[in-house]
Amino acid sequence: MKRADLDWAHLPFGYQKTDWNIRYTWRDGRWDEGVLSRDETIPIHIAATCLHYGQEAFEGLKAYEQKNGEVVVFRVEENAKRLRRSCEKTFMAVVPEDLFIEAVFRVVNANRRFIPPYGHGASLYIRPLVIGTGPQVGVKPATEYTFLILVTPVGPYFKTGFKPVHLVVEDEYDRAAPHGLGDVKVGGNYAAGLRASLRAKQAGFAEVLYVDALHKHYIDESGPANFFGITPDGRYVTPQSPSILPSITNMSLVAIAEELGMRPERRPVAIEEIFHFVDAGCCGTAAVITPVASITWRDRKVVYAKSDEPGEYCRKLYRKLTGIQLGEEEDRRGWIRKVPPEA
Ligand code: PLP
Ligand code: COI
Repeated sequence: MKRADLDWAHLPFGYQKTDWNIRYTWRDGRWDEGVLSRDETIPIHIAATCLHYGQEAFEGLKAYEQKNGEVVVFRVEENAKRLRRSCEKTFMAVVPEDLFIEAVFRVVNANRRFIPPYGHGASLYIRPLVIGTGPQVGVKPATEYTFLILVTPVGPYFKTGFKPVHLVVEDEYDRAAPHGLGDVKVGGNYAAGLRASLRAKQAGFAEVLYVDALHKHYIDESGPANFFGITPDGRYVTPQSPSILPSITNMSLVAIAEELGMRPERRPVAIEEIFHFVDAGCCGTAAVITPVASITWRDRKVVYAKSDEPGEYCRKLYRKLTGIQLGEEEDRRGWIRKVPPEA
């Protein structure tokens, strides 16, 4: 296999055409065999429910080339389970976990030449999507669905990579309501966040940090990632909230923090607690761990990183997490799945 001719060390987090995507159709109560396609577009009915009533859910995970040349994915079963929950909550056809994993393996294999080589800080981003494609005009779930996966090689989500970023607390616009769809991965949550995110960027921040919509008092998460803070005695604290996405990266960091003796706590975190943390980070598949340099809340600001250097705790967690993903550290918990070559 000849690898694609790309500048692997400087890839943005953006869409880059690859060779194949994969698509499955659900009709008459079952998914078909799926087909690899070179087409970057999909024909869609003008009354499809994804266009009118938001029947849409997606996922995000990555394939890595490890130190020994093996191609692997990280905790793919968790993405499969989360997509199931997203589909159930939006009344869409559920993608069974084994079908999800098979589809990931097929599409990664078909695009092997786009998997960034080990050691360049890049990976192959995998974006699964389920949409209601059947027509409805009344507010009803579709009778036909498409499950598709596109892949694209990416670099860091935040332009600075593993460098601290500045956040601003957003307590005017809400991202998601407590008993709404904030805990699943649906497109509408991101549409709801566009205005706040744009405003933050125009003011010189990398992203927003949302507080909960009900009390405007507890930390929820950042626009594209979960949040954690580190207490002066080295505890890993991350918000528990019904309106945030259960991040697989965060779930993994909780386990890593436990192993590192950082006594993780998942609980409601009052916004004032930002002033007691000594280090903080955003975490997610795209964000990996993005250290937080400062948080601005109304007219107050807390600074965690005075230079361009990540804090000690973010560094420790980052090394361990990426070490497991890249095969530099032992995978003791079975988080890594090798992509079988002829899946
Ligand atoms: N929160 C939001 C809103 C996200 O979009 C993501 C990205 O998937 C995350 C958190 C992080 O989740 P994960 O670690 O599973 O990628
Ligand atoms: C991911 O981390 O996979 C996401 O989906 C976040 C997205 C906003 C890029």
